[in-house]
Amino acid sequence: MAKATPDLMERIVSLCKRRGFVFQSSEIYGGINSCYDYGPLGAELKRNVKNAWWEAMVVRRDDIVGLDSAIIQHPEVWRSSGHVAGFSDLLVDCKRCKGRFREDHLDAMACLDREFCGRPAKVCREEGLMTEPRAFNLMFETHAGPVKDSASVVYLRPETAQGIFTNFLNVVNSSRMAPPFGVAQIGKSFRNEITPGNFVFRTREFEQMEMEFFVPPDQSDRWYEYWVEERYDWYLRNGVRPDRLRKRVHADDELAHYSSGCTDVEYEYPFGWGELEGIAKRGSYDLEAHAKGCGKDLSFFDEASKTRYVPHVVEPAAGCDRAAMTFLVDAYDEETVTDEKTGKSEIRTVLHFHPRIAPITVAVFPLVKKAGMPEAAHKIVDELRDAGIRTFYDEKGAIGRRYRRQDEVGTPYCITVDGETVEGDGSVTVRDRDSMGQERIAPSDVLAVIRQKIKAWRRA
Ligand code: GAP
Repeated sequence: MAKATPDLMERIVSLCKRRGFVFQSSEIYGGINSCYDYGPLGAELKRNVKNAWWEAMVVRRDDIVGLDSAIIQHPEVWRSSGHVAGFSDLLVDCKRCKGRFREDHLDAMACLDREFCGRPAKVCREEGLMTEPRAFNLMFETHAGPVKDSASVVYLRPETAQGIFTNFLNVVNSSRMAPPFGVAQIGKSFRNEITPGNFVFRTREFEQMEMEFFVPPDQSDRWYEYWVEERYDWYLRNGVRPDRLRKRVHADDELAHYSSGCTDVEYEYPFGWGELEGIAKRGSYDLEAHAKGCGKDLSFFDEASKTRYVPHVVEPAAGCDRAAMTFLVDAYDEETVTDEKTGKSEIRTVLHFHPRIAPITVAVFPLVKKAGMPEAAHKIVDELRDAGIRTFYDEKGAIGRRYRRQDEVGTPYCITVDGETVEGDGSVTVRDRDSMGQERIAPSDVLAVIRQKIKAWRRA
């Protein structure tokens, strides 16, 4: 197993660039700090993460519906929610190096002065070089329409959650949902982070996967416990190693004033434990705040008990980029493999993705580019694609190298068409990424065998 040394992250970032998972944004212009583009394989990976979340949170449930709200909303939304007044981090400036730091990140940040290169910024504070902390609002501001004045100021949303609260009545009235029920949304959010970093872990533009679960007030604790377990389990079901995942309950002094409980699902990254997702009890704060702000009644009338109440909210809030990076880091491995015939050993880089998360599920190869093998291989490709299985065709290079290339991008299964397929018993080879074992099966069994393998896959 690849050791979680500091340079492990560098090797993963390098693989991401080399194989087309993640690129520095605007790289041809020298790049832009903390902005990333997802390449061909990264786009598939991220799509699979979102599909797995949507499937678990919306498609397979009767009590949750989906939503896709606008990024730019009425500016009053952010005043009512408290973001205009309070969505800020405390910022300090170093008088010597002119660096600007988040006050709560000083331990992890280094002074920018050449003379002090690498020394923790907190030492600058101890030496009195830092200014007094001041609040810095993280929302990106822009203007809607042709006139740039204070009346046209709008914000890029810093979370997807508020679009759900502002649509609470619309959803209740149009879908006849009644508490306990949830509304789920996936979409871009923007925060002008002071200290972005650790690859796509903290960026200024990112995607969130959030669900607001509206419950009768006396059911809040029960649903909170349910969602902490369910969300933790979702990462395990999708292949994350249990020894690198933990739940961390927030201490009282970490909680927002309206929150009575929050648990983070954390992952042990090469740079230490970090938040992957937060599950919070938000009480009736958001609906009450918007009711006050817009002057509309956002309570719910329960026909059965003939009572009216403002639902409480339990919110599992995950980051899509952070989840994709976690699946990548968790899947990454460097293994020593020995060729049985030659006795030679080499390091194989492999991503042990769950087949649901892997950018490519099956790669199909003709052993050589002739003798009817490409045609037989294409038949299998078509059948798998018709069944909705992400399939890649490759006929270039030695077969061993083709296997290694697929190991490196995490393709769980490779199918090879050879002479036996076109001139012998018609069978093809199925190679398993994790065990590197091979078996021969009839081409007519390919779809069923692949489906069975995907279903039965377990992290070794
Ligand atoms: N509605 C609640 C909310 O937004 P949050 O803890 O601020 O809570 C939820 O964000 C999740 O969004 C985080 O657990 C993280 O996965 C992701 N996230 C937050 N800020 C991020 C950033 N700057 N870059 C990447 N992901 C981020």
